[in-house]
Amino acid sequence: MHLTLRQLKVFKAIAEHLSISRAAESLFLSQPAVSMQLKKLTDAVGLPLIEQVGKRVYLTPAGNVLYESCREISESLERLEMAIDDIQGLKQGRLRLAVVTTIEYFAPRVLGAFCDRYPGIEVELEVTNRKRLLDRLATNQDDLYILGQPPDGVDVEAQPFMPNPLVVMAARNHPLAGASHISLARLLEEPFILREPGSGTRKAAERLFESYGLSPKVRLELGSNEAIKQAVAGGLGVAVLSRHTLSLEGTESPLVVLDVEGFPLEKHWYLVYPKGKRLSVVAQRFYDHLLTIAPTATKQAPPS
Ligand code: PGA
Repeated sequence: MHLTLRQLKVFKAIAEHLSISRAAESLFLSQPAVSMQLKKLTDAVGLPLIEQVGKRVYLTPAGNVLYESCREISESLERLEMAIDDIQGLKQGRLRLAVVTTIEYFAPRVLGAFCDRYPGIEVELEVTNRKRLLDRLATNQDDLYILGQPPDGVDVEAQPFMPNPLVVMAARNHPLAGASHISLARLLEEPFILREPGSGTRKAAERLFESYGLSPKVRLELGSNEAIKQAVAGGLGVAVLSRHTLSLEGTESPLVVLDVEGFPLEKHWYLVYPKGKRLSVVAQRFYDHLLTIAPTATKQAPPS
């Protein structure tokens, strides 16, 4: 039987969430990517592993047996990792991370598992915008940086690890809500709420507008994604933000994503550190941890 650890990890998540979409979310993967891994695994096992009734997922007898094995394998791998970590001296230490603001929407999930695994490691987390993060990078103040685009003209190691789609948001009762194929020119007739100068999100949106020879009518500039969402929900205008800023919104969210030409703007999150810097054992472990829990990570830089 040709099974991969990655397929088993995906299956374990499906079995634990009993939902393809929630499994995908927990692994930072798209639903089609999860379905594809499930299909490969089902082919390898040669028996159906789940039954789907509406949105609900049930494990078949083969699925139950496989889930049991997944748990044993993952526990055994954890024990192995712990033994190796003890040998390497990861019992205590400090991790200094600087991240751009949008990371706060998934930092708890990313850091939570790491802190549980290494309770003796103290994490210092600096949450700031792109401009200030690049100032910190230039003066080597932190171990690792997470941002939406590697800096130009600075020699860094940059590893993309997760998609960061930028979308246009509007209030649920906005006249463009529900419209399809809205042209960028039409969108830019609407008042805009922008992030502050120095924000990477703002820069990415402005670059797109400029490439069409257009510019937005700015009604407000705000320094926080949450404040922008409130302003958009209050009908003050539309905004471009990372889709991750919607991750905690329920089905009753007052915000909708508009279907606009050029969007979603397919960006990525990058793990960055100055070229030539020797990562500490702790920083290296966090780097590896992040790439493991974000299985979309690729050694190839995707087009930005
Ligand atoms: P921001 O970061 O918080 O500066 O907008 C996002 C990014 O780096 O793309």
